[in-house]
Amino acid sequence: QLPDNSHIKWQEYQIDAAKRAAIKGHQSTVLWFTGLSGSGKSTVANALEQALVAKGIHTYLLDGDNVRHSLCADLGFSEADRNENLRRVGAVAGLMVDAGLLVLSAFISPYRNQRELVKSLVPPGKFLEIHIATPLEVCEQRDVKGLYKKARAGEIRQFTGISDPYEAPLAPDLVLNTAESTLEQSVEQLLALLVNKGVIA
Ligand code: PPS
Repeated sequence: QLPDNSHIKWQEYQIDAAKRAAIKGHQSTVLWFTGLSGSGKSTVANALEQALVAKGIHTYLLDGDNVRHSLCADLGFSEADRNENLRRVGAVAGLMVDAGLLVLSAFISPYRNQRELVKSLVPPGKFLEIHIATPLEVCEQRDVKGLYKKARAGEIRQFTGISDPYEAPLAPDLVLNTAESTLEQSVEQLLALLVNKGVIA
């Protein structure tokens, strides 16, 4: 429940995202990676960020595991806590877009309405949804962090894909399956998407 802050007015800024983009030579946007735990969100986002920085593009990577150690350290994995996690991240991503950055965000973000909320917190036209659609069986077989084993044993409750839902995007800008493509191929497809959308040259 938010307090009534309707008496607080907006301050007008003289410098906006377009003026910052003119300095940087690239557009700001959010690349929102969604997918199951272990699907490859962080790996793909990290590799893409390296490729972008090598091109002189100013990026920032927001990652669920890291944000949950700081900004969202008070939140768990109930639907309400995941909502709040993503509301905060969406607000931060929106500020970073306004600051002129190319933001990469790697969060499970399992519910469609959560991703819609994030999109609404980012300036219009500056949200690209990437579904890392690696099948559950592959994610569970990888089990890089040993969390699926714990979830199956009932040691972790509300685990996405096992005991909690994942709603796949209906119209993502790109679908990647890290079981079928190499990391290099995924990065190439993402770079092509960014060129195609006019974010980078
Ligand atoms: S969410 O749903 O978007 O708020 O989740 P996110 O902030 O991306 O955090 C996901 C990482 O937290 C670990 N973890 C869990 N994931 C899903 N369900 C449960 N119950 C859970 N408990 C801990 C897990 O390491 C996720 O990291 P990734 O990188 O996705 O594997």
